[in-house]
Amino acid sequence: MYKPKPLKYEYDALEPYIDSETVNIHYNKHYLNYLNKLNDLLTNLNYDFKYTIFELIGNISEFPLEVRDDILFLAGGVINHELYFDSMSPKNHEPSSIILDKINKQYGSYDNFKKEFIGNANVLVGSGYTSLAVNKEGDLIIINTSNQDSPLFYGLKPILTLDLWEHAYYLKYRNRKDLYIDAFFKLIDFDSLNNRYEKIQTK
Ligand SMILES: [Fe+2]
Repeated sequence: MYKPKPLKYEYDALEPYIDSETVNIHYNKHYLNYLNKLNDLLTNLNYDFKYTIFELIGNISEFPLEVRDDILFLAGGVINHELYFDSMSPKNHEPSSIILDKINKQYGSYDNFKKEFIGNANVLVGSGYTSLAVNKEGDLIIINTSNQDSPLFYGLKPILTLDLWEHAYYLKYRNRKDLYIDAFFKLIDFDSLNNRYEKIQTK
């Protein structure tokens, strides 16, 4: 059985940008629901849990055709939420280190990058995510994905993600998704972002 990844901060740690109740419901009801449903589905298939959740995606052809979409949806839901919660922190909000160098090289400046990321997030239709990912050439790419698709499904390695499902912001921001998107930039954990980026570089 897959185990939940604990939240690295308290529910109220992202206040005032994301309220405690939203983080609590998002983690305990939405994220854990994906994890529990994935465990239930795989248990019903008598699966031996030999793969990590990430490995399930690359080996999806080993599972019966009729459950592949469900497995990908639930595994994506787990992976996306774990990265989303890890993308934020009550501290470490200054862009820094090697990821900032790479952003400057590719986008000209951090402000340009931010503008492009926010632009992508604001045009996402329906439920999904805007992510920063690394492609096979080692370059950064900003990508929108629908529902619980992960950039991993497209051969990209996500290092930062913003959950744009309404449950991520509706309690506090209602229809002002744009304000929630701006708030996310006050919460980005650059230490963890650098760590993920560095890990990809050393592979
Ligand atoms: Fe979510």
